[in-house]
Amino acid sequence: MSDLTDREIHLAGARLAWSEAGSAEANGVLLVHGFPLHGGMWRDQHTALAHDYRVLAPDLRGYGRSTLGDWPDDATTLGRYADDLAALLDAAGLESAVVVGFSMGGYIALEMLRRCPERVAALVMMDTRVIADDEAGRAGRLKMAAHAAEWGAKRIAGMMRPKLLASDASDEAVQQTLGQIESADPAAIAASQLAMAARPDSTELLGQYAGPLLAIVGEHDEISPPDEMRGFAQAAPRGEFVEIPGAGHMAPIERPTAVTDTLRAWLARI
Ligand code: MLT
Repeated sequence: MSDLTDREIHLAGARLAWSEAGSAEANGVLLVHGFPLHGGMWRDQHTALAHDYRVLAPDLRGYGRSTLGDWPDDATTLGRYADDLAALLDAAGLESAVVVGFSMGGYIALEMLRRCPERVAALVMMDTRVIADDEAGRAGRLKMAAHAAEWGAKRIAGMMRPKLLASDASDEAVQQTLGQIESADPAAIAASQLAMAARPDSTELLGQYAGPLLAIVGEHDEISPPDEMRGFAQAAPRGEFVEIPGAGHMAPIERPTAVTDTLRAWLARI
């Protein structure tokens, strides 16, 4: 098993931290976590993939060991996270990496494709969506952003829980997921919700993506439905689709081995 090394850079006003494992000469894999989690969500995939790849798992701005920095409400977009990840690749000396985006991480991966496609060697969209929010979804995000400080992360974890995990998820998967959410900074939660609410539809962008694309989703995912993910995978020139039996939205935590094996098999082929 490879050990994880903690690294960080300082960008204007913020510390951006990541954990890294694997050989410095190997191809890069960037694991981008979901909302409102941190890079530790990739625990199982990180060490397993590091046998063959140089694997970087950042804590996005405001999460885990990274600080939110100076991020005014009226300038909140997912582009800020994408720019951070490009800076992280620079600091790591990687021209590009396979970008694996889980849920909000997938929205950010799309933003990288829009802003710096040359940094995306291949793309994994995991339990995520390509379309923008509908009006009700956007309103829900704005409400949570406005009340995050008052509600606190524990209440938010309770609100999110019903849609996150399959009904028979293990206690460990439940604890890992809720523990991460409960430790999140309400200010980071608010910033992410504003950014996600403002994200554009990326259907056309992904439909024109000519690189290797893998879509992975839990069979019972209620947030990013399998049929929707199959659709965008099939629309992309090199898209492939894999459903993880028995998992909900948190597939990499609920069914870590199945997700890791799927990633390894696909990475070895591309
Ligand atoms: C996530 O897991 O990152 C979120 O559920 C994404 C979202 O709220 O759309």
